[in-house]
Amino acid sequence: DWTMAAFKEQEIEKIRAQVGDGKVICGLSGGVDSSVVAALIHEAIGDQLVCVFVDHGLLRAGEADQVVKVFRDRFNINLVHRDASDLFLGKLAGKTDPEEKRKIIGATFIDVFEEEAKKVGGADFLAQGTLYPDVIESVSFHGGPSVTIKSHHNVGGLPERMNMKLVEPLRELFKDEVRILGAELGLPHEMVGRHPFPGPGLAIRIPGQEITREKCDVLRKADAIYLEEIRNAGLYDAIWQAFAVLLPVKTVGVMGDSRTYDHVLALRAVTSTDGMTADYYPFDHAFLGRTANRIINEVRGVNRVVYDVTSKPPGTIEWE
Ligand code: XMP
Repeated sequence: DWTMAAFKEQEIEKIRAQVGDGKVICGLSGGVDSSVVAALIHEAIGDQLVCVFVDHGLLRAGEADQVVKVFRDRFNINLVHRDASDLFLGKLAGKTDPEEKRKIIGATFIDVFEEEAKKVGGADFLAQGTLYPDVIESVSFHGGPSVTIKSHHNVGGLPERMNMKLVEPLRELFKDEVRILGAELGLPHEMVGRHPFPGPGLAIRIPGQEITREKCDVLRKADAIYLEEIRNAGLYDAIWQAFAVLLPVKTVGVMGDSRTYDHVLALRAVTSTDGMTADYYPFDHAFLGRTANRIINEVRGVNRVVYDVTSKPPGTIEWE
């Protein structure tokens, strides 16, 4: 009968058979899928794996440090950590259109990844965290009407350009199974249980305004407080995704004796099984009040907090 431990052993054998003594390169994002792929392939072929973590500076608080700590220090994986935040923020300067931001981030990501891949001497294989739903989606969309609501970036096109074959050991798994496999491989709970996070990161959570390092820092601080309150309330695992959005609207407030004029922050939390449809999460008012208070008191640059009660459809999960 089927167990995750047996599946893991079987996949390890498959990876060894496919790769032989070739070299594999894997892009790490800090997300669940790429983390599990990296840990699995490392268990199969050890130092024949090189991981490249392109840090675009648009991650949540503490994520970049955690990737380095877990993969380099604990798993002893050969990890290239490229801090490319200046490059990404420079290219995003003055850009406010959601699709334009996605395209810039996607293209820059591929450029930097390719640069780092060349620096380590290239590879025979590219590892990808393709899941079963991705496989079905690309088959059923094939030839069908193509309506792009939001373009998602990955390293598509790179394998051909760099003449690499794909290694995709998660192709038969659903997300919840990937989490179980991750735990089986010894990845920390907060990594395998992590909410999904979009490739363009915080750039699409600073809508309708110029993205700056300062705004990213404000958003990161507020987001971290929100997530901490969610974890403290024991609600993290009941929620599909929760995050803050820094709005381009400033409003008047009072702080002590003085007038403030700062950003509005929107909080979003949804339940979902696949991200295709979603319901807003019904927090109680005490939770919302407590969290809003903490954010306004602890994060300079935000003086008003609102909660998004839109479901999907008609709304999307992200704001842009
Ligand atoms: P929406 O906002 O379309 O989000 O309801 C559905 C799921 O997709 C994620 N998302 C993205 N993921 N690149 C990604 O890798 C993107 O550009 C992107 N846009 C949305 C979103 O976080 C949610 O999980």
